[in-house]
Amino acid sequence: MAFRSIKGTKDILPADSHRWQHVEAIVRDVFQTFNYKEIRTPIFEQTALFSRSIGELTDIVGKEMYTFEDRSGDSITLRPEGTASVIRAYIQNNLAEQLPLTKVYYIGPMFRQERPQAGRLRQFHQFGAEAIGSPAAEVDAEIIAMAIAVYRKLGIRQYALKINSVGCEKCRPVYKATLQELLRKIAPQLSPDSQRRIDQNPMRVLDSKDEEDQSLTVDMPLINEFLCTECSEHFKNVQRLLTSFEIDFTVDGRLVRGLDYYTKTAFELTSTALGSQDALAGGGRYDLLTQELEGKATPGVGFAAGIERLLMVLDKTGFTLPDGRHPLLFIAAADDSAREWALAETIRLRERGIAAETDLLRRSLKAQMREADRQEATFVLVAGARELEEGKAALKRMQDGTSELISLDTIASTLQRTSS
Ligand code: HAM
Repeated sequence: MAFRSIKGTKDILPADSHRWQHVEAIVRDVFQTFNYKEIRTPIFEQTALFSRSIGELTDIVGKEMYTFEDRSGDSITLRPEGTASVIRAYIQNNLAEQLPLTKVYYIGPMFRQERPQAGRLRQFHQFGAEAIGSPAAEVDAEIIAMAIAVYRKLGIRQYALKINSVGCEKCRPVYKATLQELLRKIAPQLSPDSQRRIDQNPMRVLDSKDEEDQSLTVDMPLINEFLCTECSEHFKNVQRLLTSFEIDFTVDGRLVRGLDYYTKTAFELTSTALGSQDALAGGGRYDLLTQELEGKATPGVGFAAGIERLLMVLDKTGFTLPDGRHPLLFIAAADDSAREWALAETIRLRERGIAAETDLLRRSLKAQMREADRQEATFVLVAGARELEEGKAALKRMQDGTSELISLDTIASTLQRTSS
């Protein structure tokens, strides 16, 4: 084959797209009930926007971004996530002036050049939300509750919520220095990745998937023991609120996310129905990000979730989505003289909001009937020269095979009556 899709990307084919539409509809529905409004930002941005916000030393910025020089010599990057773009748009469009708390959501493709595997793609899709303008724990808890509401509404129960506080610019440096000192002592025994992280991001060593790293660091102090009063109070409030919402969670002191902008709350939703890439969603608070992007200091919190992974869980847990079929009328032409009328009538019905189809391959009546079956048409109407002359034809309901002789100028009203 001459052309194939790029490694790590997938076509969403017609047989599958209704599953996506269903999930997206539920996401929009849930987000709307939480009063979040949609924001759509460009797929590409200046490279520096991402390196500045996600962090130069992260895997995403260091190894995974699709970065290229455009024809004017500017460095452009396909967005690897949505938060940086949302904050850029928030600052650029002075959204702060409109409302004290901006609540926005997005659904769309993201791009990361990771090694493709089950649940890990190079173009993947996220739905996510950001609440910008409040330092209060109420917003952290609301964001977490909203993420969970989507899975619940889709019938997914197999997930676990882990939360942590990664501290702030006041308490984190003390912890980092303490951890670095301890890690340096065991550096030669750690995995190469973890050795590299000691200087750059020591907290990620504790989050290592390597078993040897895990056993070597098992007794090391965790960030929650070092939180300042403000961070500690905030974390307690988040936990209290989650409990009052009846949301189960575990505190995981080793949870550090792969993006550098987090302060205070960090959280992840995982599912046992997934393989090694078990994160369904992740998020947290980023009180310094707006400032980092040269906007007025404004606290924020948000999350994002992978749609492919959500669909994988739906597949595995056997939850059936609606089949996406709408009532469809197939108009078959019994002879050549009726073909033109059939198409014109189809167009007229579509204008009135009725899904209709006719034959565009000039096939025999028998072949048209087979096509109507293949399309799983709800109704079939067969008309030829005689029916056109009499102005009447039989409308067949495929489900039970019953027919009704109807006037050709009342097709729309008959269908509207029968389908309602
Ligand atoms: P993230 O943890 O990098 O966070 O991504 C969120 C979710 O996107 C993951 O939990 C996973 O479900 C999905 N995901 C990530 N990478 C891939 C991939 N290569 N293939 C398939 N799915 C993937 C963020 O992106 C942050 N912007 C979340 C956030 C919003 N924090 C605050 N606001």
